[in-house]
Order: sequence, then C-alpha cells, then structure tokens
Amino acid sequence: MPQDPVIEDAIEYVRTLFQGNSDGHGADHTLRVYRTAMRIADSEPGCDRRVVALAALLHDADDEKLFQTENNANARAFLASRQVDETLADRICEAVNAVSFRKNRGKRPETPEGRIVQDADRLDAIGAVGIARTFAYGGRHGRTPEDSLDHFREKLLLLKDLMNTPRGREMAEERHRFMEEFLREWKAETGENS
Ligand code: NI
Repeated sequence: MPQDPVIEDAIEYVRTLFQGNSDGHGADHTLRVYRTAMRIADSEPGCDRRVVALAALLHDADDEKLFQTENNANARAFLASRQVDETLADRICEAVNAVSFRKNRGKRPETPEGRIVQDADRLDAIGAVGIARTFAYGGRHGRTPEDSLDHFREKLLLLKDLMNTPRGREMAEERHRFMEEFLREWKAETGENS
C-alpha cells in the first residue's frame, strides 16, 4: 500500500470525484487501473513510479464524458492543493493526456509513464472485467447483449495488439484468451453461427 501521502490523498480524491458514477468510469475503474499500472511498472525499471501512480489515479479526472473541464483542471487543482510542483504536475498531465484512445488516434505515448498507464487502462477494457463493464455500459445505454457482443468483436478483440509494454502484452494475451472463450461459449449456447 502507498506510503506517499499525495498518492493516498489521490485515492481519496478519486473516490469523492466519481461518487455515484457506476457505468464503467467510476472510482472502481480508476483504482483497478492504478493497481494494474503499478504491476506493469514493476517490470519497467526506467519509469518514475510516482508519475505512473498519480497519472493512473488522475487519468479520468477530466474525462470529457463526465466533466466539463479544460486543460486537466481537476487533476491540476488536486496536485496544486497537495503542493506538487509544476514540473511534476506537467509530467503527470502529459502522461494522462497520452492515455486517451480517441484523442491520440493510435499514436503511441511518448513517455514510459504514459505507455504504462495506457496499457493499464486498455487492460481494464478486456478480460472478465472488460466483459462485465461492456454489458453494464450497454445495458445502461439501452443496448441488447448482442449489441454489446458486436463491441467485443469490433473493438475489444483488437486491444491486445496495441499494448506498449511486454508485461502489458502478457496480461492482455491472458485476458484476450478469456474473451475468446466467452465468445465460444456464447456461440455454443445460442447456436449463433457468426
Ligand atoms: Ni479509464
């Protein structure tokens, strides 16, 4: 568990920030991304673990689907309130901004910290957690289970080939196999032949 008071405060901060949000971008998602990022960081000796931890914890703090902030305003306000100096805050926000799938259109993050947090965020979209999140999100937005399965085939099955780090790739392969198994079982149960 973290010894760093800023990291401990960041965990509390995201719990408050995402209160009441349960459609896959809540505090539970952020905390899983944080734990996964730290596991990947264990295999990436060149990274700054503090930047990885804080970028993971703050990676959705200014998500455009949830907040109307600009220029990482939530993340920056939190970091300033904990006296994190601006150079470090810049590096954290740079890593945060490198994570977004949409904003970066497939561009690989330029820093090791950005690459680690992006892998951790993508890993949370696949495997057992990814399956649960996809159906929870789909249900909330009026989609049938079949619609959610299309999302698997069109997007989630591609993620394993987009990993940045060797450890991230390894974890993605395991989770990918589990999703394929799930799709096979679905087909067997429903007699679907697609
Ligand atoms: Ni995320």
